[in-house]
Amino acid sequence: MSSAPAFSLDAWSRAHLTLVEVALSRWVTVEVLPGQSWGAPADLVQAMRYAVLDGGKRLRPLLVMAAFEAAAAPGDALGGSAALRAACAVELIHAYSLVHDDMPCMDNDVLRRGKPTVHVQFGESAALLAGDALQALAFELLTPADASVPLAVQARLCGLLARAAGSTGMAGGQAIDLASVGHALDEQALRHMHQLKTGALLQASVMLGAACGDASAQAQKALASYGQALGLAFQVVDDVLDVTADSATLGKTAGKDAEHGKPTYVSLMGLERSQCYAHDLLSQAHAALADSGLEHTAALAALADMVVQRSH
Ligand code: IPE
Ligand code: IPE
Ligand code: MG
Ligand code: MG
Ligand code: MG
Repeated sequence: MSSAPAFSLDAWSRAHLTLVEVALSRWVTVEVLPGQSWGAPADLVQAMRYAVLDGGKRLRPLLVMAAFEAAAAPGDALGGSAALRAACAVELIHAYSLVHDDMPCMDNDVLRRGKPTVHVQFGESAALLAGDALQALAFELLTPADASVPLAVQARLCGLLARAAGSTGMAGGQAIDLASVGHALDEQALRHMHQLKTGALLQASVMLGAACGDASAQAQKALASYGQALGLAFQVVDDVLDVTADSATLGKTAGKDAEHGKPTYVSLMGLERSQCYAHDLLSQAHAALADSGLEHTAALAALADMVVQRSH
């Protein structure tokens, strides 16, 4: 009796990351638009490329593509090209959020993805504008002028990403984070903050892929639960790694949360209970996949495992 070969997240990720890296490098560039004689200012594009290229785990793009492949009919090339755009768009929003998160007015960090942060390298005004432009570029990618993404899909993708990035998503969570420095939050308030600042964009990554693959209502509901559990687990583990990992491994300065008086899962419940909680959330993510009615969920399952077991 033959059995299906075991799923390899490494091999799957390598293939998909190549597509994402090539597309990001092509799209974050000095583009001269038809009918114009100038492109974007080279200095601005240089800071944008520095922020986005050559670094990061690319978890969000991988989630988009894994959710798309789980939901889509085999050979859906049109959906695949929308999914690649959505994968890059969510990474652009994420990269912009990191540029601004690191600025002196927020977390004041000097190291990101193993390199000096954008404001250290290019100055504060350049970092601010690079973040602004990356955010806008994300929506440019979702609205191509050719017919490669149907208008209804464009609208759905823009709505999902805008809501996850804005005041009831990432930006809202970042506002709560800054307002909470020095305060001990209870578990409900901390969960709310983490769901907004980090969970919303991760959950949206899954839902963007599902939308490109035209997932059924049952699958969308299950994938939303999967994305919610995974999104929260991700920030719980980020809080844990800030305490347990070193800066060289993380590519960003370790130990900053306690130094800055940030409320985190570790400050609320200690290391061991935070790690157990991340594993509980992982079980919830797996259970949601089992409820999805989808067959090809191996990549989503393996990405959830990676989120909780990662070292950086
Ligand atoms: C870091 O995100 C910021 C948080 C939302 C906690 P990642 O750990 O995904 O950062 P990169 O993309 O791999 O650098
Ligand atoms: C950042 O959370 C979340 C966003 C950028 C939206 P953190 O401040 O904990 O992220 P790191 O630890 O600097 O990557
Ligand atoms: Mg922060
Ligand atoms: Mg930070
Ligand atoms: Mg952190």
